[in-house]
Amino acid sequence: MTPGFSPSPSSSSRLATGVVVGVAIGGGVVVLVLVLTLICFLCKKRRRRDDKTPPAPIGKGRPTMEWSSRMKIAVGSAKGLSYLHENCNPKIIHRDIKAANILIDIKFEAKVADFGLAKIALDTNTHVSTHVMGTFGYLAPEYAASGKLTEKSDVYSFGVVLLELITGRRPVDANNVYADDSLVDWARPLLVQALEESNFEGLADIKLNNEYDKEEMARMVACAAACVRHTARRRPRMDQVVRVLEGNISPSDLNQGITPGHSNVYSS
Ligand SMILES: Nc1ncnc2c1ncn2[C@@H]1O[C@H](COP(=O)(O)OP(=O)(O)OP(=O)(O)O)[C@@H](O)[C@H]1O
Ligand SMILES: [Mg+2]
Repeated sequence: MTPGFSPSPSSSSRLATGVVVGVAIGGGVVVLVLVLTLICFLCKKRRRRDDKTPPAPIGKGRPTMEWSSRMKIAVGSAKGLSYLHENCNPKIIHRDIKAANILIDIKFEAKVADFGLAKIALDTNTHVSTHVMGTFGYLAPEYAASGKLTEKSDVYSFGVVLLELITGRRPVDANNVYADDSLVDWARPLLVQALEESNFEGLADIKLNNEYDKEEMARMVACAAACVRHTARRRPRMDQVVRVLEGNISPSDLNQGITPGHSNVYSS
């Protein structure tokens, strides 16, 4: 202490008060910073949770696509393809109809997409391609073998898509479950049998648990069978497929003079 100087009691109590106030303000600031940090952390966490994209309606780990959705996709994509074949002038042959090129929205509205390989059919003569394009498992036999291209090769590919919707199987299986055959080869005898006996158990996707409209299944099976006919000219036009799928004409109309009830109807 400096000799001759002693702080008055009032100035020392002011100092103490100042220190207390200072400590209180400092403590308050620290608490405020901590609270703000906590609020920011909680907000960020919540935002991250809100930002999460909603789970995809279909795909791995998701429930099986129900029958009504499959039917909707079949009708929607058949209409799209019918538009290209029957309403466009000159008509358009898509050349790469397959499941991956049919886009669906959250309500299962289907859109035929990916026109990278599409060809405009300028004349009615059969076009012969120099290079066969498309995707294995979906290629019509006459197009794969000789490059002969008509809209009926799209119809064949569409038949394969229908088979995928019916069976839940892939057109070509890497695990060789079809013993070197394709989905079409595997399904052909089953299609005939299913239509003759009106029994779709061996054909329908097992994951559907028999939960499907039998009439609709019969219509889709009849369309698939007619679309994958080996002989191109015996395949139906897409507008016929649309009408059968929608139940506006009878599946027997797809047989165009082929004896009904004959087992070759669906395999020729
Ligand atoms: N606009 C789109 N919106 C959502 N998915 C899409 C879109 N375009 C393509 N896809 C999906 O992305 C994937 C890849 O499409 P992409 O067209 O590249 O290949 P692909 O159709 O499998 O084969 P390809 O090369 O013969 O067209 C497919 O599963 C397809 O369904
Ligand atoms: Mg594609």
